[in-house]
Amino acid sequence: MPEMPPDQEVPIAPSSKEAMDALISKRIDEAFTRNALASNATLDNLGSISEQKNINLDSMDRHERADAVKILNIVEQARLETERLLSGPQLDKAPLANRLQQRAGTVDTVYGGLISGRQEAVKILETMVSGFIDEAGPNQDASLLLKDIISQEQRFLANHCLNVAVVSLATAIELNKMMTRKLDDPGLQKDINLLRAIRLKTFTREELIKLGFAAFVHDIYYKKAFPHLKHTDVLNAIADRSNIERHASESYHLMRQFEMDYHVNKAVLQHHERTDGSGSPDGITDRLFSKYTAILAFADRYITLTQPNPFSPLFHPTVALKRIMTTEKTGFDLDAMVAFAHAGTMVPIGSWVLLEDGTIGYSSRREEGQNLPIIHPVMRSSGEPIETPSDVDPRYDGSRIRQLLTAGDLMAINPKYASLYLV
Ligand SMILES: [Fe+2]
Ligand SMILES: [Fe+2]
Repeated sequence: MPEMPPDQEVPIAPSSKEAMDALISKRIDEAFTRNALASNATLDNLGSISEQKNINLDSMDRHERADAVKILNIVEQARLETERLLSGPQLDKAPLANRLQQRAGTVDTVYGGLISGRQEAVKILETMVSGFIDEAGPNQDASLLLKDIISQEQRFLANHCLNVAVVSLATAIELNKMMTRKLDDPGLQKDINLLRAIRLKTFTREELIKLGFAAFVHDIYYKKAFPHLKHTDVLNAIADRSNIERHASESYHLMRQFEMDYHVNKAVLQHHERTDGSGSPDGITDRLFSKYTAILAFADRYITLTQPNPFSPLFHPTVALKRIMTTEKTGFDLDAMVAFAHAGTMVPIGSWVLLEDGTIGYSSRREEGQNLPIIHPVMRSSGEPIETPSDVDPRYDGSRIRQLLTAGDLMAINPKYASLYLV
């Protein structure tokens, strides 16, 4: 055994057993205090929590204080549930893509059950969404990346809904992070209204399931109206204005026959409403939105702008996101937009770019705190695949982004470009 060099310190700081015991005991006390403060708010300890989180208790009456206790506990629950969700198993891209395909298949079958009014279809879909959240949560970047290649001709609606669900979930998880940061920020004084606003944009696991459920059924009327049509036929049929106008309320009426959370149905009805009242069918503003409407409306708009459909020309995801955040911004919830831009970056994960060095790749993941994603170059500008691709950071010279590439550009360069997602 090699001898320890005399000048190297042995990494045990406390020299005596007593000192060590005291240190351990102090750590346990700290952990307990943290837990008591964080996860178990009561009217008795509200004072010390408020001090720590800069909550203005003096501005609150008795009822508001009781409400504050409830909010603190539920936000803490969501924080723990989100941490647990994000630390779930990491899957490789190919098996994850497979699972997403299977999910789309299950959803397509469940639609049949819902359309014929079977309550058990609701249960099956809830279970499916719960499994979907367990996969997509810890594999968020990969899910955003792969949502674009889930393409099954017969399952147009299921694919559309799966895409909307992936974007909704990524947005809600990021909102959870934003809201807990806001709550913990000692520089920001919180009154009851701000606490309620934080709660409104925090999602427990149960609420994530409800949001996912709403995403999967939001356009279900199209399935009822056109059960056997293929992709292109559905697109043409949907383009008929009367169907566009009716589909949100028809989908709502279809889902209303089931025993389920009213807020989920309300989000289905409201998914084309806009925060400024410029949406449809009722032109309501966000004051009347359900808890899930703002995210669902944003996710649906983003997917509509970035995937082939009869309503709008196709945009590169960066262009679509910028458009929603600028020309369309009065129609959408600011926090939801910012949350998705954080989760997907401004070159949303899965979108393609041409780099300065002439290689072409897709944005594959984000580094915490960065606006630009890591790019995975997979082919040359001739369309020839790169043998052993390795990730680059587009913030540095030589690998900066030169051009955003749309699906049309990519088809012209290499018609099989989509298969390179799995490289
Ligand atoms: Fe819709
Ligand atoms: Fe939709």
